[in-house]
Amino acid sequence: KQRILTGITTTGTPHLGNYVGAIRPAIEASHNSENDSFLFLADYHALIKCQEPKLVHQSTKEVAATWLALGLDTDNTVFYRQSDIREIPELTWLLSCVCGKGLMNRAHAYKGAVDANVANDEDPDKAITMGLFSYPVLMAADIVMFGANKVPVGKDQIQHVEMARDMAQRFNHIYASKKQPILTLPEYVVDDNVAVLQGLDGRKMSKSYGNTIPLFLTEKQLQKHINKIQTNLLEPGEAKDPDTSTVFQIWQAFANEAQTAEMRQAFADGIGWGDAKKRLFALINEEIGEARERYNELLKQPEEIEAELQKGAEKARKYSQTMMEKVRQSVGIYGLK
Ligand code: TYM
Repeated sequence: KQRILTGITTTGTPHLGNYVGAIRPAIEASHNSENDSFLFLADYHALIKCQEPKLVHQSTKEVAATWLALGLDTDNTVFYRQSDIREIPELTWLLSCVCGKGLMNRAHAYKGAVDANVANDEDPDKAITMGLFSYPVLMAADIVMFGANKVPVGKDQIQHVEMARDMAQRFNHIYASKKQPILTLPEYVVDDNVAVLQGLDGRKMSKSYGNTIPLFLTEKQLQKHINKIQTNLLEPGEAKDPDTSTVFQIWQAFANEAQTAEMRQAFADGIGWGDAKKRLFALINEEIGEARERYNELLKQPEEIEAELQKGAEKARKYSQTMMEKVRQSVGIYGLK
């Protein structure tokens, strides 16, 4: 049996990129009883980016409501909040003690932050927290705690899953026998069709670029956001190149093959940008419309959301407590008998 695990940082409202890259495939997997899936809200990770307690809290609620509204099967899937699993920060420390500092120096997210600081004339050593620097270690703990072998993520997270694999390997090398590894080596899974969804400006859709289309906008706001997708100046009647178009790229992520072929033809035939965007709106709205209603209902009943998370935490702790017991033993941290 495959153990599939993925997480989503609870900063801001989930956007179409998160949906296409992570939430949708994870929800599909949650209905497949062949799989054994774990899904969690990475609220400790959120603290790296957000130091406003109210926002951290609100976001956790919104992200949880998003997954539930989209039909996550919480009987078949362990759905929990990272911070409810107290063993995770503990394992993070133990992994920190086997993780070379150089590995963290190479993390894209960290290097990106350094470059951004330098560009702004800021001192990275002052601006960057240890949380940001060592965030791949926390992520590794998330993954290996539950013995996950498949980690569905967007392309931006591939490196982190590889780092988790490195840490697990190193841990096993030091503490486990060859025949009986303690930690499972995870592999990333990226859906190539939809790997990186583009945002309004054509760059990767990302909270940090401010170019996102939030998932559960009202219909009016959704249309408005879609209208903001940047296009070139070609007029209706002029043939357009689908492969350099963000409108087409997002279309592809929501369309079936026939619809994609149809839109490709419409581009060749010179569909106007206004038209193409209206059709894109209808396509997305059809996929998420019902879930949007459930989402709005759930936000009015946070105790229902909390009950789901508690149910998940209980299931998750069964695994994390057993794993931590084993890991503590292996490193020599246990009672003096
Ligand atoms: P986060 O919260 O930034 O993103 C959640 C997931 O969405 C994917 N994603 C995208 N996919 C396609 N197109 C996009 N534009 C796009 N933007 C985001 C991300 O790749 C990710 O899969 N550190 C992780 C959360 C995390 C995690 C974990 C994931 C913490 N622990 C353990 C897996 C396993 C993060 O910040 O993702």
